[in-house]
Amino acid sequence: MTIALRRVTADDWERWRSVRLAALAEAPAAFGSTLDDWADAPEHRWRARLSIPGALDLLAYEGPAAVGMASGVPGDEPGTVELISMWVDPAHRGRGVATDLIGAVAQWAREYGAQSLDLSVMPDNDAARRTYERNGFVAADEPGDALPDGRHEVVMRRALTAERGHQQEAGTP
Ligand SMILES: CC(C)(COP(=O)(O)OP(=O)(O)OC[C@H]1O[C@@H](n2cnc3c(N)ncnc32)[C@H](O)[C@@H]1OP(=O)(O)O)[C@@H](O)C(=O)NCCC(=O)NCCS
Repeated sequence: MTIALRRVTADDWERWRSVRLAALAEAPAAFGSTLDDWADAPEHRWRARLSIPGALDLLAYEGPAAVGMASGVPGDEPGTVELISMWVDPAHRGRGVATDLIGAVAQWAREYGAQSLDLSVMPDNDAARRTYERNGFVAADEPGDALPDGRHEVVMRRALTAERGHQQEAGTP
């Protein structure tokens, strides 16, 4: 079946909440946020999360079921977008749902004028790191946020300028 990506807004908070809570319950080690922190969050917190200025929040659907999610938010550095909240339902993994989501966020980030798409991933999250590598991300030469056990998150980066140049080149007669 085909995967359809839909952009959501604050008004879709209940739909987004159910997917995000499923993600935090299923893969707690993958995220900085916790299920405890969000399980009873009031409507205004969900709406605020879905109202980050300049952000893109996507849900992936297979038929009527939401099977994945990802967001792009403006990064700390100018010209960067950060990929966050990436999750795919375990029953739908290994079939390119994350790849579709990453592609859509990268395309949107390019249109937004970003030069790079960045993300942070837990150092032992091999499945995610492999997925990101297959999608053009390279581990950056800088440590991510410190973890309680003394390790650091891994920062990965996908350059978007080269892709833009490449596309322009390809379009030049
Ligand atoms: C990481 C995660 C998002 C990947 O989602 P996914 O939809 O399974 O990813 P993809 O299908 O795009 O790629 C994963 C694998 O499927 C393969 N694949 C199979 N069919 C594919 C297709 N049609 N298109 C692309 N990839 C395909 C990929 O090559 C890749 O293989 P690998 O395991 O050898 O690397 C998912 O495992 C997940 O939600 N994990 C828990 C949460 C998490 O870790 N989030 C990241 C936080 S930083």
